[in-house]
Amino acid sequence: MGKTYNIAVMGGDGTGPEVVAEGIKVLKVAAEKHGVGLHFVDYDFGGERYIKTGEMMPDSAIDELKKADAIYLGAIGHPDVKPGILELGILLRLRFALDQYINLRPVKLYPNVETPLKDKGPEQIDFVVVRENSGGIYTGMGGVVKKGTPNEIATQTMVYSRFEVDRCIKYAYELTRKRNKKNMLTLVHKCNVLTHTGDLWVRAHKEMGDRDFEDIKQDYAHVDATCMWFLKNPEFFDVIVTENLFGDIITDLGAMIQGGMGIAAGGNINPDGVSMFEPIGGSAPKYTGKNVINPLAAINAAAMMMDTIGEPQIGKSIDDAVTAALSSGRIKSMSAGKMGMGTMEMGDFVAGLVK
Ligand code: IPM
Ligand code: MN
Repeated sequence: MGKTYNIAVMGGDGTGPEVVAEGIKVLKVAAEKHGVGLHFVDYDFGGERYIKTGEMMPDSAIDELKKADAIYLGAIGHPDVKPGILELGILLRLRFALDQYINLRPVKLYPNVETPLKDKGPEQIDFVVVRENSGGIYTGMGGVVKKGTPNEIATQTMVYSRFEVDRCIKYAYELTRKRNKKNMLTLVHKCNVLTHTGDLWVRAHKEMGDRDFEDIKQDYAHVDATCMWFLKNPEFFDVIVTENLFGDIITDLGAMIQGGMGIAAGGNINPDGVSMFEPIGGSAPKYTGKNVINPLAAINAAAMMMDTIGEPQIGKSIDDAVTAALSSGRIKSMSAGKMGMGTMEMGDFVAGLVK
């Protein structure tokens, strides 16, 4: 038996626990095949616990999670909790506390998966978005004065340090090199308007590229034009690096062109610490407990988790199994309830294909 890893599991709300259960099913088979041990520890953070106890997450949990090898997250979001509370109290808190400064979101169209883009297939849709995940508007800097009056003023500031920008761009350049496809790193921003932070990103991208990554082609696109190109010619992209909010927005569009939220996975990564992996689709409360939600996004997140903790051969086994499952033609759709099989059957199917 090789190494054993401790995986903290946070199924969370809605369909989160269901999809995570299928991911774990597949993980167990793949890890065993490679002689690697996985030890899962459950945490009940989410809307349900918050409503019952009034507590989001004790500080001690953060310390415990810091000792895990990775965190596997289902979804956070509850219809009876006001928007913003759980997002800030759990998801963003963990991203910040664990300094998960990269949000890695591959946009890859698998075989037989329907994309809304006419005449585009797996050959054309295969790129990765590196979203900065710890700064920008998400830090919450700003405030409100004269609240509730006609003169109310509110600000929310996009803040970036050179340090934050550099470490994110470095990760993106290294990933581009490791991927070794088009060897092109596109910086996405809005430097024609955001002349302060945009300029910081543009200089950091160019200076580091010129200095340390001469083998990687430098490219730049405005965020609005990027949305257009995702639809028009996604084949242009290889790796994209962008600031937090722009990355949030363009990766929802990215998820749609790769077949929807049922298959899109993401990793909140601290390259030197504990990372957290999740299907990016949310808790989908109306499908809870019905065995109809698509677990492929969670299974893909599990593969990404294995890549990141240093077991890429396990990640590859899982990814190959997902590709084989989709290539079989037995999975009819990525949408909940239309897959041609249930959540658990899909988990069994993929697990059975792990080599
Ligand atoms: C995401 C989500 C989160 C974000 C929300 C839930 C805080 O949209 O992971 O993309 O904005 O980052
Ligand atoms: Mn989002």
